Amino acid sequence: MSNFALLFCFAFSTLSSCTVLKKRNDKPIIGVLAQGVGSPQLQKASYIAASYVKFLESAGARVVPVMINQTLEEYKTLFNSINGILYPGGGASIVSSGYANAARIFYELAIEANSRGDYFPVWGTCLGFEELTYLTSGKQLLSQTNTSGVALPLVFTNGSRESKLFKGFPAEVLDALASEPITENSHKWSLTLESYNSNADLKKFYKVLTTNSDGKTEFVSTMEAYGFPIYGTQWHPEKNAFEWTRPYIPHSPSAVKTTFFMADFVVNEARKNFHRFEDEEVEKRALIYNYNPVYTGNKSAFEQIYYF
Ligand SMILES: *[C@@H]1O[C@H](CO)[C@@H](O)[C@H](O)[C@H]1NC(C)=O
Ligand SMILES: *[C@@H]1O[C@H](CO)[C@@H](O)[C@H](O)[C@H]1NC(C)=O
Ligand SMILES: *[C@@H]1O[C@H](CO)[C@@H](O)[C@H](O)[C@H]1NC(C)=O
Ligand SMILES: *[C@@H]1O[C@H](CO)[C@@H](O)[C@H](O)[C@H]1NC(C)=O
Repeated sequence: MSNFALLFCFAFSTLSSCTVLKKRNDKPIIGVLAQGVGSPQLQKASYIAASYVKFLESAGARVVPVMINQTLEEYKTLFNSINGILYPGGGASIVSSGYANAARIFYELAIEANSRGDYFPVWGTCLGFEELTYLTSGKQLLSQTNTSGVALPLVFTNGSRESKLFKGFPAEVLDALASEPITENSHKWSLTLESYNSNADLKKFYKVLTTNSDGKTEFVSTMEAYGFPIYGTQWHPEKNAFEWTRPYIPHSPSAVKTTFFMADFVVNEARKNFHRFEDEEVEKRALIYNYNPVYTGNKSAFEQIYYF
């Protein structure tokens, strides 16, 4: 399906100057947003959990850290250099923080780019999902749920197996997702189904693909935008394969396949974008390979963290 070649001939040119353009970028580079550290550690001010980096690398992408507190101009330049962005989980404010500020800028640039045919995917996990609900609605619509540390099976909405996100998944993985507790939830806040249904901006923008419940309150657990490559999961697809510090993180074969098929989807979305760095030197300096993750599994929920 994806290896089309397009023949571009310009009306003003001769046939000999037709250009063959490949409609796929096999060297995608995805930005992962950093966030401020809760309490200063190792004299560092911001971090990215390494599992998000491994998640994207496992499916064939390279990663660039998107630092907080940069200027609008710096973010615009970076936006035009990378092929998609991931907003990770964490504890930053979705309204007022370096994370929230950068997320808003990239979201607005993505809406603008996608609207003129420049395909740019945005992925939100957990806090990133929550941030997307805020960016799209302009409102803090989250409610508290009892979901900090529990693995759940997904409740698929009608037709969502045919969604952009899930339609490429093998049936056995979808069956496992629907029947086994393999999606890990680590959040105190959720978008309840009721809040979603009563907010016209969210309803118009996102299709609910799955829901879950804490036993009392039904909440949205997976969503995709109708008209944009913008996706969010309240649960953590990256943890199954890459995080081991908590007993409730699932590691079954189906759980680990879920990590991979989610990552494969995100990276394939980024392969549809053709932004690139100014030159190879600038690209090399931006890549996460310039930083070393630190072992933190003995004191934090993350096995390894990149500090900046
Ligand atoms: C970002 O800016 C905030 C507010 O000025 C500051 O508290 C924080 O330390 C800064 N973080 C980094 C990583 O620059
Ligand atoms: C929260 O959920 C857990 C199961 O995940 C349950 O054991 C606990 O009793 C619940 N707490 C409340 C306050 O409902
Ligand atoms: C699901 O949607 C399809 C078409 O959109 C409809 O035909 C079917 O009745 C729906 N099923 C349920 C259980 O709502
Ligand atoms: C955790 O491990 C690191 C690296 O081995 C070590 O430097 C640090 O002191 C350990 N921290 C705790 C709280 O055990």
